[in-house]
Amino acid sequence: MGFVTNESVALITGGTRGIGLEAARGIGRLGATVVLIGQDPARADKAVQELTSEGIDAVAEVADVADAQALAAARDRLGPLGDPDILVLSAGVMSERMARTLRTSPEEWRRVMGVNLDGAFYAIETFAQGMARKRSGRVIGVSACLGRFSGPGTSGGLAPYRVSKAGLNALMRNFAAEMQWGARGVLVDAMCPAHCRTDMGGPDAPRSAQEGAQTIVWLADRQATTSKGDVVQTGLLWEDREIVPW
Ligand SMILES: NC(=O)c1ccc[n+]([C@@H]2O[C@H](COP(=O)([O-])OP(=O)(O)OC[C@H]3O[C@@H](n4cnc5c(N)ncnc54)[C@H](OP(=O)(O)O)[C@@H]3O)[C@@H](O)[C@H]2O)c1
Repeated sequence: MGFVTNESVALITGGTRGIGLEAARGIGRLGATVVLIGQDPARADKAVQELTSEGIDAVAEVADVADAQALAAARDRLGPLGDPDILVLSAGVMSERMARTLRTSPEEWRRVMGVNLDGAFYAIETFAQGMARKRSGRVIGVSACLGRFSGPGTSGGLAPYRVSKAGLNALMRNFAAEMQWGARGVLVDAMCPAHCRTDMGGPDAPRSAQEGAQTIVWLADRQATTSKGDVVQTGLLWEDREIVPW
């Protein structure tokens, strides 16, 4: 049996389309109630209708993840659903194509950092407090190959995006250490979905959003300990269920 049960609540920022929506569908199919956070009310309604028609318990809250107060208000409106067992941080935006460091405006830097990095921190601060108290939870940061220092993260260009994802990796690693690498029942990991066919990834990407979301669903459903009672490997960066270097 996995971590996800019919009693579980999974909150997915950016769950209203793309990889986040597929993560919500995958976790919802395991029995969890899924809470989708997005900015666009029409897309949020459509995503809830889609999942509900498939038999998944789904609700949505409209909030800008770059606005800590908006997230806190969403949590208050959600009541018990605002204290999830699983938190997936998928909300993200891409940089402008020409965003080399010297061609990036302060406004563009702030826009991307606000969603991809501040938004991830705000969501953790808002929605993961109960996990630490209950000593049970899963936090999954949707990162990108473009944030990897061992890979294309330092190749130049798309500066705010690459740096925001490198920052997200650091945020997840630091939080995992604070959760004592799973010993407190909370597993914190980052993952790369690889290039997927979404609004962000474009129509020619090699894999579907559903394929990109598979590792998220797997991380959400992992038990914290092995059959021998050892804490599983956590506080890491994953791609296709394998550990990859940061
Ligand atoms: N697609 C890829 O090839 C790829 C590769 C590597 C990593 N990633 C990462 O995977 C994650 C999901 O990407 P995707 O391709 O699924 O993107 P997407 O199709 O563009 O969807 C983005 C999602 O994030 C939400 N969002 C954006 N800004 C927000 C904000 N300020 N507040 C709340 N929600 C916000 C969107 O909601 P609205 O509809 O309301 O705007 C939408 O649900 C991102 O973090 C991305 O960096 C994607």
